[in-house]
Amino acid sequence: GLPARVRIHEVGARDGLQNEKATVPTEVKAEFVRRLAEAGLTTIEATSFVHPKWVPQLADAEHLFPLVSDLEVALPVLVPNERGLDRALALGARRVAVFASATESFAKANLNRTVDEALAMFEPVVARAKAEDVHVRGYLSMCFGDPWEGAVPVPQVVRVCRALLDMGCDELSLGDTIGVATPGHVLALLTELTEARVPTGALGVHFHDTYGQALSNTLAALQYGVTTVDASAGGLGGCPYAKSATGNLATEDLVWMLQGLGIDTGVDLARLVATSAWMAEQLGRPSPSRTVRALSHK
Ligand code: HMG
Ligand code: MG
Repeated sequence: GLPARVRIHEVGARDGLQNEKATVPTEVKAEFVRRLAEAGLTTIEATSFVHPKWVPQLADAEHLFPLVSDLEVALPVLVPNERGLDRALALGARRVAVFASATESFAKANLNRTVDEALAMFEPVVARAKAEDVHVRGYLSMCFGDPWEGAVPVPQVVRVCRALLDMGCDELSLGDTIGVATPGHVLALLTELTEARVPTGALGVHFHDTYGQALSNTLAALQYGVTTVDASAGGLGGCPYAKSATGNLATEDLVWMLQGLGIDTGVDLARLVATSAWMAEQLGRPSPSRTVRALSHK
């Protein structure tokens, strides 16, 4: 069966924008987040408190966060280490996300650490966040394929999932960072996670649409029992430290499918499309989302 309701974890302002070469003005980012909230999204990842040299586009996190923190939505932010957590807590963030890798190559490229060194870096972050009653999401990248290592063995992914949950993460997001997953692989991973006693309710899925499989993969995950889906308004995105990563699953494409299935998301599709069309104008190029294109020509 399918769930009655799906929670969309909107990543456009973070995963979507982090790869943009031209600096997007802080006021435009804040307006983007506000419009996403007005369109009915209730979990909107706002920015990252990472090293500004590593992700220059999000170097304005201190300026951006206070411009949106009055919104009555959940505003998770990425924090790679205790320095990032300090910065986020100082601004009153109540939800943070650490981001691990299932592969050594990406751990090195994205975090300058081995997989286990990165986990050791997250441990005090998660412990301190939980002590302050801050919600912690654990991202896991390269759950399916890796640009340097190829197909990623399922047990390797399960091990890091287990480690993130054991250190206290409230939820996990299974990342197909470069968009190579197909539905059978998704089901194989979800099944192995269940065998490893990872509760399906603690899992979200995070698909990039490189090969056009993001929706099929999402449907497979929903049929398995997953109810949290990451998506990016207008299909913005990519990852600066993973070559060949294209945009995330577009939130509009997801909402179109879920509406058709009678699954509630609370999102007003017309307002969301208008937001992505507006953002595309700011960025100077059309949205890659098929649904945005179809509905903005009406
Ligand atoms: P490092 O160079 O090893 O850092 O980078 P370090 O720990 O050696 O520290 C070096 C200096 O950086 C120090 O300053 C620190 O204070 C400073 P110094 O003492 O030399 O003056 N520093 C910081 N400054 C500000 N904020 C911080 C911070 N941390 C250290 N948080 C580090 C290690 C983790 C910092 C770096 O690799 C980094 O920032 N990486 C972030 C990369 C990133 O954001 N990638 C994109 C997000 S992941 C993603 O997109 C995938 C996802 O969407 C899921 C999917 O699709 O798979 C989530
Ligand atoms: Mg991503």
